[in-house]
Amino acid sequence: MTVTASAPTDAPKATQVLGIETSCDETAAAVVESGSVLRSSVVSSQVELHALYGGVVPEVASRAHLDLIIPVVSAALAEAGQQLTDIDAIAATHGPGLVGALLVGVSAAKSLALVCDVPFVAVNHLEAHLYAAFLEDADLQLPMLVLLVSGGHTMLVLMQGQLRYRVLGATLDDAAGEAFDKVARVIGLGYPGGPAIDRLSTQGDPCAVAFPRALAKQGWDFSFSGLKTAVANHVRKNPNVARADVAASFQEAVVEVLVEKARRAAREFGVGAICLAGGVAANSRLRARTAEVCAADGLRAVIPSRAMCTDNAAMVAAVGWHRLQACGSASLSTGASPSLSLLN
Ligand code: KG4
Ligand code: ZN
Repeated sequence: MTVTASAPTDAPKATQVLGIETSCDETAAAVVESGSVLRSSVVSSQVELHALYGGVVPEVASRAHLDLIIPVVSAALAEAGQQLTDIDAIAATHGPGLVGALLVGVSAAKSLALVCDVPFVAVNHLEAHLYAAFLEDADLQLPMLVLLVSGGHTMLVLMQGQLRYRVLGATLDDAAGEAFDKVARVIGLGYPGGPAIDRLSTQGDPCAVAFPRALAKQGWDFSFSGLKTAVANHVRKNPNVARADVAASFQEAVVEVLVEKARRAAREFGVGAICLAGGVAANSRLRARTAEVCAADGLRAVIPSRAMCTDNAAMVAAVGWHRLQACGSASLSTGASPSLSLLN
């Protein structure tokens, strides 16, 4: 018997997708045409609110998303020169992330989809990060190796084709961004820690302290909790150490492991490009070292603008368009999935 897969009955002709992102501490909305043409992108950061507490407070984040979601969506539509009636589909991040924060975006997207009678698309936040680079270069060739480094995840992903991935490795403990944030606290820098360490490192010596490079030459997984503990121990034993030297040495250890592993994977899997994604991809040293290594190895370095690395809704709208083409719309009974994985 031959079974022929039928196209989804609600297969879309949609071109203008409104994306909504509320998985953590950024309330964001964007309009993207046909999966890669950016019409608008608005991001309202809650950083100042959470800085008072030294980190993201889930309840504070949910309440802020509630206050901001309608103004941010209105601003994204206005920036795109569009009305809600021009939108063909509405995509929102439904996981992974903070459950209360995700629910605000998902509920807003489903309500708007119902009112406008357009498809709702549930988007995986990790998959959205993988697609951010396409918003700046729609002709990127696959396969490509993506180093996805954010506050909650660190993954080496072989992007084989559209919506087709193989996760080669991931962190066994702390995510790279989490390590940046925790080390920043240890050396007395404020929240968010990643950008603060990036800035301070410019004044420090990256060779001042030889911090450990866990798993640098083994396999595809990562581990950063030992490094974080090594920094804490070093600061405790050397209270007068120059913080800039600690920051630069820590940053160098993280970057070296990330880039060397990506370089080895590109060689082993015969891939011609390394792409950076996620908030930590905004790091100056990671960007510079990736460019250097790719130039040396004859690889293409795909390094999106910082705004495309950190959380935004344009990447959500981009994936929404691809998912809509491939799978049709999601059910309006879709809820938040705080622990969603890339290959769920
Ligand atoms: O992707 P993202 O915006 O949110 C998540 O999905 O987690 O990533 C946030 C993470 C935080 O840990 C933040 O400290 C880190 O990205 N980050 C940086 C830099 N900018 C943001 N880490 C190092 N250097 C930076 N310049
Ligand atoms: Zn993210």
